[in-house]
Amino acid sequence: MSSRASFIFLCFFSFLTCFKVSAQNQDHTYLYHICPNTTTYSGNSTYLTNLRTVLASLSSRNSPYSTGFQNATAGKAPDRVTGLFLCRGDLSPEVCRRCVTFAVNDTFNRCPKERVVVVYYDECMLRYSNESILSTLSTGGGMYMWNNQNVTSNQLDQFKDLVASTMNQAATEAANSPRKFSARTANFTRLRSLYGLVQCTPDLTRQDCLSCLQQSINQLPTDKIGGRFIMHSCNSRYELYAFYNESAITIPSPPPPPPRPVSAPPVSAPPRPGKGGNSNVLVVAIVVPIVVAVLLFIAGYCFLAKRAKKSYDTTSAYDGDDITTADSLQLDYRKIQTATDDFAASNKIGQGGFGEVYKGTLTDGTEVAVKRLSKSSGQGEVEFKNEVVVVAKLQHRNLVKLLGFCLDGEERLLVYDYVPNKSLDFFLFDPAKQGQLDWTRRYKIIGGVARGILYLHQDSRLTIIHRDLKASNILLDADMNPKIADFGMARIFGLDQTQENTSRIVGTYGYMSPEYAMHGQYSMKSDIYSFGVLVLEIISGKKNSSFYQTDGAHDLVSYAWRLWSNGTPSELVDPAIADSFQRNEVVRCVHIGLLCVQEDPAERPTLSSIVMMLTSNTVTLPVPRQPGLFFQSRIGKDPLDTDQFSTTRSLIGSVDDATITDLYPR
Ligand SMILES: *[C@@H]1O[C@H](CO)[C@@H](O)[C@H](O)[C@H]1NC(C)=O
Ligand SMILES: *[C@@H]1O[C@H](CO)[C@@H](O)[C@H](O)[C@H]1NC(C)=O
Ligand SMILES: *[C@@H]1O[C@H](CO)[C@@H](O)[C@H](O)[C@H]1NC(C)=O
Ligand SMILES: *[C@@H]1O[C@H](CO)[C@@H](O)[C@H](O)[C@H]1NC(C)=O
Ligand SMILES: *[C@@H]1O[C@H](CO)[C@@H](O)[C@H](O)[C@H]1NC(C)=O
Ligand SMILES: *[C@@H]1O[C@H](CO)[C@@H](O)[C@H](O)[C@H]1NC(C)=O
Ligand SMILES: *[C@@H]1O[C@H](CO)[C@@H](O)[C@H](O)[C@H]1NC(C)=O
Ligand SMILES: *[C@@H]1O[C@H](CO)[C@@H](O)[C@H](O)[C@H]1NC(C)=O
Repeated sequence: MSSRASFIFLCFFSFLTCFKVSAQNQDHTYLYHICPNTTTYSGNSTYLTNLRTVLASLSSRNSPYSTGFQNATAGKAPDRVTGLFLCRGDLSPEVCRRCVTFAVNDTFNRCPKERVVVVYYDECMLRYSNESILSTLSTGGGMYMWNNQNVTSNQLDQFKDLVASTMNQAATEAANSPRKFSARTANFTRLRSLYGLVQCTPDLTRQDCLSCLQQSINQLPTDKIGGRFIMHSCNSRYELYAFYNESAITIPSPPPPPPRPVSAPPVSAPPRPGKGGNSNVLVVAIVVPIVVAVLLFIAGYCFLAKRAKKSYDTTSAYDGDDITTADSLQLDYRKIQTATDDFAASNKIGQGGFGEVYKGTLTDGTEVAVKRLSKSSGQGEVEFKNEVVVVAKLQHRNLVKLLGFCLDGEERLLVYDYVPNKSLDFFLFDPAKQGQLDWTRRYKIIGGVARGILYLHQDSRLTIIHRDLKASNILLDADMNPKIADFGMARIFGLDQTQENTSRIVGTYGYMSPEYAMHGQYSMKSDIYSFGVLVLEIISGKKNSSFYQTDGAHDLVSYAWRLWSNGTPSELVDPAIADSFQRNEVVRCVHIGLLCVQEDPAERPTLSSIVMMLTSNTVTLPVPRQPGLFFQSRIGKDPLDTDQFSTTRSLIGSVDDATITDLYPR
């Protein structure tokens, strides 16, 4: 599918995703420009010629983008032009170059005839003038921005102190460094870190830089959870999320106790604070693209005149609850204990690899589903909370909503919205209930599940891979709309997220892609495989893992493939709905199912193309190839009643029923 088609498609399904896509494709976020029209040049003047020379020089390939700063001069007074750019210190030369390239063009749109110009972007600044601006401190061009979320009053004093000390330390560090740049983090609460960044143009002296930064820092709004103050010669910014690339700052230039110039005044430099944990970065990764979109929107009208300084509110969309999100998600253990009747067996509604599930009724009558995690979770408390926050932010009408969590000693509970109907397998594989799911419903369920996984795969840069997609993880609400359960469990349970190759396999017999089952390689394409199996199950009403056909096909996937090869795919359809189905829709779904279970992961379609295939009859489908099978001979019995198991790679290596044992603690 072309990127354009997928873009339109995303717009159709997710308003926010649309913003995300458009914001991501942009390397530069415009903030503000100042170009008084009191001094202008004419369309054909020497000034313009000189200006073009300066801009061409600044944006030339030879510019030192790796240092993030360059100056250029052209012409003689009074038409002499001096220009410079400054990129944010953490950015790669490539990002810097793209921002500058954009800026030198963009400036003619914003300031077509003005002589004295400064344009600010998130990533870089471009400034030029007929005056000699180099090596000269200028505190003009000031601009405030802040996050309109207030710091809660009981934390305010602590927060102000922390901002002041962090920013002042950073300012000292920046003034003493050759690049005149510094970024620091400090712990604010146990869950949140403060991130601060300061930068001067490196043509300033140490003294000028320090003086500029002090003025800038004094203008920061410290009762807000984020703010910045930008001027011609320097800027400062703090946030409660990593708005800069931490690894770019810490890895390439590990700052050992800097050998200070002899002339430097004695500064007591406290040790660099530790990092607040990468998970914070992840939490924010969801939010930032939205912030950018809203920022662009708000910037359009939020100009407030404030003592001749332009100021505006930057974000609002930065989910301000973030300071307290983990706290606001944390529920009282005793309330949940009461709600579930102390986890009474009569309230138990399910059991999976990660623990048992109970139904509960809160005192206000709200019904919830409580997952009691098995005790061996390897996750520390902070990581657990961070992951819960991430997962709770994933909200889609085809996902079960995570409402909160409890921690009580070893005990860890996840509390979800209660979904009234049972799971899909309850209807699908029960001869007495199969008829309740007519073809129209089944077709809608396939579409809903596809959209839910599409959201998991493509929402934000997180890319949540479900890893255990199956009929019993698809819950049905009162209107039989599907809601995917158990997503993000690998995160919450602390399984390795960073490697695409894992020795700990969590999955379900019959749904696992061969490469995952045998080599532990998981990717979005392993979810696609499971989705394909699910589609074939929904069509046939038969379970892949306990399929037995007298004519020799040992599993549903092989059976479907044989019917397809024989040109009779519609024979796959569940006899219970044999008189009500749409033949063309069924054939298309079998086709899609078989595309998803192909042996080569690269050949399996992505979810965005799957949804496209499901919604548009005009999309031509590729011809499926031989499906990949993980289990080849399997007859009758189903020793893994709950289906779920986890095992280690070494055990699964032999791909033999007998060795697949349920090792997972329940
Ligand atoms: C300068 O801008 C102001 C307001 O933006 C406008 O009223 C004025 O006419 C402009 N002057 C010139 C010379 O363009
Ligand atoms: C630009 O300058 C040239 C010669 O210097 C002149 O012929 C032309 O008319 C000018 N154009 C404008 C738009 O001023
Ligand atoms: C820059 O231009 C302004 C307005 O045209 C003028 O007053 C000033 O003297 C110029 N500066 C230099 C250094 O030429
Ligand atoms: C500058 O922008 C215009 C459109 O605004 C575009 O046509 C042109 O190619 C751009 N030039 C460069 C050098 O990027
Ligand atoms: C923050 O506090 C100011 C007054 O201190 C108030 O006007 C504003 O509405 C508050 N903002 C939010 C988002 O609560
Ligand atoms: C300005 O640029 C020139 C040539 O690129 C360089 O030699 C000079 O050091 C720069 N000046 C400053 C203050 O960076
Ligand atoms: C952050 O910096 C590191 C090291 O320079 C780089 O490898 C990585 O791509 C950067 N990440 C982003 C998002 O720019
Ligand atoms: C910040 O918190 C982390 C753990 O959350 C800790 O390792 C680190 O030492 C703390 N840093 C400071 C400066 O307190």
